Amino acid sequence: MTHCLKFLFGLLFLYTSAVHAGLVGVFNALPPPNTKPIDGESPLLQCDVLDKQLLEIKEVNLSPNPPVRGDNLTISANGEVFETIEEGAYVDVEVRLGYIRLLSQTFDLCQTLEDNDIEGLSCPIEPGQYDIKKIVEIPGEVPPGKYVVVARAYTESDDLITCLTGEIVFPPR
Ligand SMILES: *[C@@H]1O[C@H](CO)[C@@H](O)[C@H](O)[C@H]1NC(C)=O
Repeated sequence: MTHCLKFLFGLLFLYTSAVHAGLVGVFNALPPPNTKPIDGESPLLQCDVLDKQLLEIKEVNLSPNPPVRGDNLTISANGEVFETIEEGAYVDVEVRLGYIRLLSQTFDLCQTLEDNDIEGLSCPIEPGQYDIKKIVEIPGEVPPGKYVVVARAYTESDDLITCLTGEIVFPPR
């Protein structure tokens, strides 16, 4: 019993320290409003659907779906880009594990595409249809839990490219 309590207080202490340090955000766990499912086999939804978006993602397939820790994940997607996406575009990504905000970060979109070699895509991305496929390995060390991801991509002049959100549950083994 005392062990249990110690453990609980330990956790509470860690959690509140982390909150104070700004590492995790509390009361920030609502999914974004205005979502619409994306065709295909994936847990992804388009979000902010009332706002005009420069990329229409028509279909996303994950294999396996849902993704499995320690396995390779094949992502295939197709969509249409309506306006040229140039250097300076960025993506705001937020990842939460349950109510804890694990990551809230802005990435350079063009740099990220090049670093991850997504079918050799590079900026400027001209308007047109795109069909991409990418294999990523999900590390086995990823802690189990319910992850919520929200990603919003913008052009350099802050026009919305796309808003994506999804929930992935990695069960304990
Ligand atoms: C994932 O794919 C890479 C490259 O194709 C391969 O080397 C690796 O063994 C695969 N991992 C698993 C867990 O299948």
